[in-house]
Amino acid sequence: MEQYYLEIRAVHIGAIALSGALLLLRGVAHNLLNASWVMAWPIRALSYTVDTTLLTAALILMTIVKQYPFVDSWLTMKVMLVLVYIFLGYLALRGRTGRTRWLNLGGAALVYGFIISIARAHNPLGIFA
Ligand code: HEM
Repeated sequence: MEQYYLEIRAVHIGAIALSGALLLLRGVAHNLLNASWVMAWPIRALSYTVDTTLLTAALILMTIVKQYPFVDSWLTMKVMLVLVYIFLGYLALRGRTGRTRWLNLGGAALVYGFIISIARAHNPLGIFA
């Protein structure tokens, strides 16, 4: 599997870009245009597929670089923040009021950026290191 490290890393990063872009697009379309396609099943299925790809590539990368959550602190932080990102992303689309949805969309974007800085630095403090 090691020989495919660069390809799998590219899949992980590509899926991250798609996941972020999709959440942003859905959040903005939902809030500004009240677009019904945002919750349509093909879009939800696309979102689940992208996130499953992202996490599958992450699991393979973990075994290649031999670093693991609850062993390596930057990965522990990453996993915890992924849960926060999922929760904020859920509220960004399903929140009752427009204000709730906008605030959670902004929060999800900040957490997303912070996770990227943690991944780049291999440090749980990311840009604050
Ligand atoms: C539970 C979820 C995740 C796990 C376990 C995980 C794990 C990993 C692992 C093991 C690597 C390889 C590091 C290396 O090459 O040394 C990696 C790379 C990376 N991950 Fe994740 N990841 C997860 C989710 C995410 C998310 C949600 C993002 C962005 C929002 C992200 C952004 C990145 C980036 C940008 C890299 C490339 C870092 C670099 O080498 O420059 N990851 N991830």
